[in-house]
Amino acid sequence: ALVSWARRCVSETAPTPPPEMSAKLTRNFCIIAHVDHGKTTLSDRLLEYTSTITKRNMTDQHLDSMDLEKERGITIKMHPVVMNYPAKDGMTYKLHLTDTPGHVDFAYEVSRSLAACEGALLLIDAGQGVEAQTVANAHLAEQQGLKIIPVINKIDLPSANLELCMRQLEDILTIPAEEAILASGKSGIGIQDILEAVVARIPPPRWTDYPTLRALVFDSKYDAYRGVISYVRVFSGTIKAGEMMSLMSTGQRSEVKEVGVFRPGMEKIATLGPGDVGYIISSIKSTDDIKIGDTITHANKPAEEMLPGYKEVRPMVYCGLYPLESDDYEKLKVALGKLRLNDSALIYSSESSVALGFGFRCGFLGLLHMEVVQERIRREYDVEIISTYPSVVYKVKKHNGDIIEVDNPINLPDPGTIEDISEPTIKAAIHIPNEFLGDMMSLIMEKRGSVDQTDTLDGARVMMTCTLPLNEILVDFNDRLKSITRGYGSMDYELGEYRVADLVRMDILVNQDPVDAFASIVHRSKAEGQGRTLCEKLADIIPPQMFKIAVQAAIGGKIIARDNVREMRKDVTSKCYGGDISRKRKLLDKQKEGKKKMKLIGKVSIPPDAFIQVLKTNS
Ligand code: GTP
Repeated sequence: ALVSWARRCVSETAPTPPPEMSAKLTRNFCIIAHVDHGKTTLSDRLLEYTSTITKRNMTDQHLDSMDLEKERGITIKMHPVVMNYPAKDGMTYKLHLTDTPGHVDFAYEVSRSLAACEGALLLIDAGQGVEAQTVANAHLAEQQGLKIIPVINKIDLPSANLELCMRQLEDILTIPAEEAILASGKSGIGIQDILEAVVARIPPPRWTDYPTLRALVFDSKYDAYRGVISYVRVFSGTIKAGEMMSLMSTGQRSEVKEVGVFRPGMEKIATLGPGDVGYIISSIKSTDDIKIGDTITHANKPAEEMLPGYKEVRPMVYCGLYPLESDDYEKLKVALGKLRLNDSALIYSSESSVALGFGFRCGFLGLLHMEVVQERIRREYDVEIISTYPSVVYKVKKHNGDIIEVDNPINLPDPGTIEDISEPTIKAAIHIPNEFLGDMMSLIMEKRGSVDQTDTLDGARVMMTCTLPLNEILVDFNDRLKSITRGYGSMDYELGEYRVADLVRMDILVNQDPVDAFASIVHRSKAEGQGRTLCEKLADIIPPQMFKIAVQAAIGGKIIARDNVREMRKDVTSKCYGGDISRKRKLLDKQKEGKKKMKLIGKVSIPPDAFIQVLKTNS
């Protein structure tokens, strides 16, 4: 029966199979890799090969649907999609694929997609070989008990070194080289081999025999017309429109309005069954009511135990976000609320600043995550914002024994009451070609780090295991790593322990007034250098003023660096003689427009992007 059903499935009139039969012909897998090793391109080929998307409708990197993703060429959100694949054994399989982001900031997206799968394609760029995140992602998949299928990708590249990749696969990842599939997402080599391997090597959906409905919520999205859409992986039982469901962590009940799958657009279907990855739209109204990692069950016949959820993600970097126009405060609040629904790693709470007014303190996974969120607020919600200097979370021990957490430098208690301050560190695994070892060591020392171990990988590359203060890698570490190693180095990290360090709060004063938005917590040994750079940058970025204005850096009451803002010389209309009124108007309007964009702090105008600019160039 199974065979004949599977054969008939190729035609569109095939009846819906019973759920237990369907599960045997279902495979759930994701693609994991180091950034830029070609996941999205390969996914596109898989969609094309299985006619999920016709070649005519195929735009490059189909699964990267966010504008920002296309522009930057990186995947930020994961994208589930279902494909039908008539395999060589004569059966048609339902393959659920999840594309995942490769950047280290988005590792939590990877772990979420892994929880919804039984197997993973591990891509290795044939020109680059195994990199830091290849290793990290492979370990994540292994820990979750997933079957790993190694794929050596981009074999069309002239620089492809298959022998090296095979050796690395065995030596670094301890995966037998004969398991590797050779492929090229670009030229379509090896696509059928990959699909056959998915069917043959990845086991069918697990935990399907649990007696009641259990579906894992692995993502959710807010849609202005349809409300909250939950992305789910059904492990056991079935769910369809009209049923009452409940969320196991809170017991909240709601009515199911629609269920469906992604092809890759949303397509309504009658029932979601075991092994299916799809969506549920229910009467849940508020974005806060649904928790990623929660288990959905039937309200009337609930499951006894929840599915294992995800590791709670903790933001590592904080900064203040403020609307440029104070009227936009509510708009910013709504934007953050909606973004948070799609992004459980983003957290925020309201705060106010003397210089910037009312805004929000926001927590992010890393700097790229922070930039992406800011960019999305600007583009998708049309709110102009400014952001303060990013900070990590410090633990401050006071003389009276209290320990407080500080994520905003202005909340650092009076130095007289502080016993010590600890900062978060990271454990980093850095992969680099041998010849850059010396330069890399210097960079790590400069960043107050230590190298705990150095391992030779394959004769040509080494892996450095090091400990670094998180604060030091925030701004430019990755860029410097890339430039030292001419792009051949890579890094992966996880949060390490807190460590006591000699840290102080540095204030920046513009025209004698402290600008709270620029306060930062820095290591004492670096305060002077950083203070000087910040003052120079700020003095440079603040437009010339009518009179001389000082920009100073101070620790406590002591000034440690100083620079001056240039004095204004230019009258924009001075070159317009006589009655050319329209030209004058134009110049004055332009000046007025420029001024509007500036945020007034005391008597000095600071352009809104000064914060970002200072931050970006503060290397
Ligand atoms: P992230 O989502 O940012 O992690 O990237 P990704 O792994 O999805 O990589 P993507 O598919 O965006 O490809 C990265 C770059 O490699 C692009 O410039 C692609 O055109 C190129 N590329 C992808 N696959 C191949 C391939 O098989 N051969 C060659 N020569 N180039 C490829």
